[in-house]
Amino acid sequence: DLFGKERRNSEGFNLADTEQLYSLQKSLDELSGLSHHAGPLINGKCLSGSERVIVNPANHSHKVGTVAFCGADTVADALDTASKAFDAWRSTNVQKRARYLNNAADLLEYNRTELVSLCVSEGGRTIKDALADVREAVDFCRYYAARALELFDRPMALPGPCGEDNFLTYYGRGVFLCISPWNFPIAIFTGQIAAALAAGNTVVAKPAEATSLTAAACVKLLHQAGIPGPVLNFVPGIGSEIGPLLLRDPRIAGVAFTGSTETARSINRQLAEHADIVPLIAETGGQNAMIADTSAHKEQLVLDAVQSAFNSAGQRCSALRVLFLPHETADKIIELLIGAMQQLTIGDPGHYATDIGPVIDRKALDKLNAHVEAMRQHAGILFQSPLPPELPDGTYFPPTLIEIDSLAQLTEEVFGPILHIVRYSSNTLEQVIDDINATGYGLTLGIHSRINATARKIQQQAKVGNLYINRNMIGATVGVQPFGGMGLSGTGPKAGGPDYLKRFAVEQTVTINT
Ligand code: NAD
Ligand code: ALA
Repeated sequence: DLFGKERRNSEGFNLADTEQLYSLQKSLDELSGLSHHAGPLINGKCLSGSERVIVNPANHSHKVGTVAFCGADTVADALDTASKAFDAWRSTNVQKRARYLNNAADLLEYNRTELVSLCVSEGGRTIKDALADVREAVDFCRYYAARALELFDRPMALPGPCGEDNFLTYYGRGVFLCISPWNFPIAIFTGQIAAALAAGNTVVAKPAEATSLTAAACVKLLHQAGIPGPVLNFVPGIGSEIGPLLLRDPRIAGVAFTGSTETARSINRQLAEHADIVPLIAETGGQNAMIADTSAHKEQLVLDAVQSAFNSAGQRCSALRVLFLPHETADKIIELLIGAMQQLTIGDPGHYATDIGPVIDRKALDKLNAHVEAMRQHAGILFQSPLPPELPDGTYFPPTLIEIDSLAQLTEEVFGPILHIVRYSSNTLEQVIDDINATGYGLTLGIHSRINATARKIQQQAKVGNLYINRNMIGATVGVQPFGGMGLSGTGPKAGGPDYLKRFAVEQTVTINT
């Protein structure tokens, strides 16, 4: 009974259970030798394309597998298939759609080890991050299944005058294009698809180039769960090449995009060329800050700042980029931060004890190095965690602490393990909030203060989507911390929140004169 059952988030994996952890490590070590292949999946069939080799970002001599990228014909085939499948899927009853998604959640959990293995080798994510990625994907499937049952099962009766019945009904829009980033190759990739399918849309899913193997593994599980092949089509490929073919096609009824603000702008421009008005859900980057005042609990602040800035090698949209410290306590907190950074274990993401793995590729590494070099001219490099000497040839970047004079020195999102410090005077708190708002981004914000009035003041004035008080500011939980930004950080509605599915649907009001 899908209605009677209370939805619960996945229990995940208990990292404190060493027996389980060692057994997982052993399985992952065995799986890391496998070679994988993936290609476009259209109408349930795997097609060929131009082959590309995927290497492990932590060790370039490790070839993870190959992926066949789509050309124009395959893209057209995917759109055609999804478009023809729409009417049948739209009228498939919502219990069935929800059941498939709940099956998918079970299968994701059951195949967790294989997914973690791929995500670690292909995406360079640590084991802890990859486990959380699977858990979040499971939660998205179950959450959207439950929301779909609430919204789509029967028309919502509305109050009206005597002698008239009024109803509101939600339906799928058509073919939804889901475009996702590499940094949550399981959760974000699966979450977008699950929402679109739950709402009655058919899907063409475009994964990030770097993590196409992991994405393909998720698609196979969704198909295995019961989602018909023509309803979910998979088009791996180069975004700038196949993106325009997908986005300009008149069969697209909506786009769910997660990635950089720059790509979201380009997508928006392309959608504006359509004769129809095509909705875009865009979840993009941030310039995320944390403000500490003199009342902040120093050890808690340091722990939360280090986790927020450096977990996932800083490659989270939610990650902390700029920590505002009051002059009175800044020196002490910087000393503690450096101490904590010295404790970070940098290295093989496939080992359970690793805190910081590689960044995704050479381009990302070059960008981070260029940023540090540029900052050397105008700012103080306070500390760089030393990289262990025995690291293999991979794209490792050391966690770095930089002091800058003002937020204005950062002109774009720095996507990696770099934390900037800005000192401020307690009587300029208003200015700090204004400066954060002036970046135009509005994704996450952390506050460390034991003065309720200060925390409330910042909360009320800050134009950000997710605000965390006296804790870290990453790892939003589905249904608990609906996630998404405003301004340059995204359009909303929030992923894992009660309003997300509605944006994937059209509404119909029916009035009957009785
Ligand atoms: P990206 O914008 O480079 O790529 C994202 C996706 O868009 C990829 O699948 C890519 O192939 C595709 N793409 C690229 N150019 C395209 C085009 N012209 N047309 C259509 N598709 C195109 O982003 P990324 O480097 O993969 O991911 C990192 C970015 O994502 C960061 O800015 C990060 O902050 C953001 N992000 C945001 C959230 C959020 O929830 N707000 C979550 C994760 C990541
Ligand atoms: N939802 C992810 C987080 O909160 C991006 O870290």
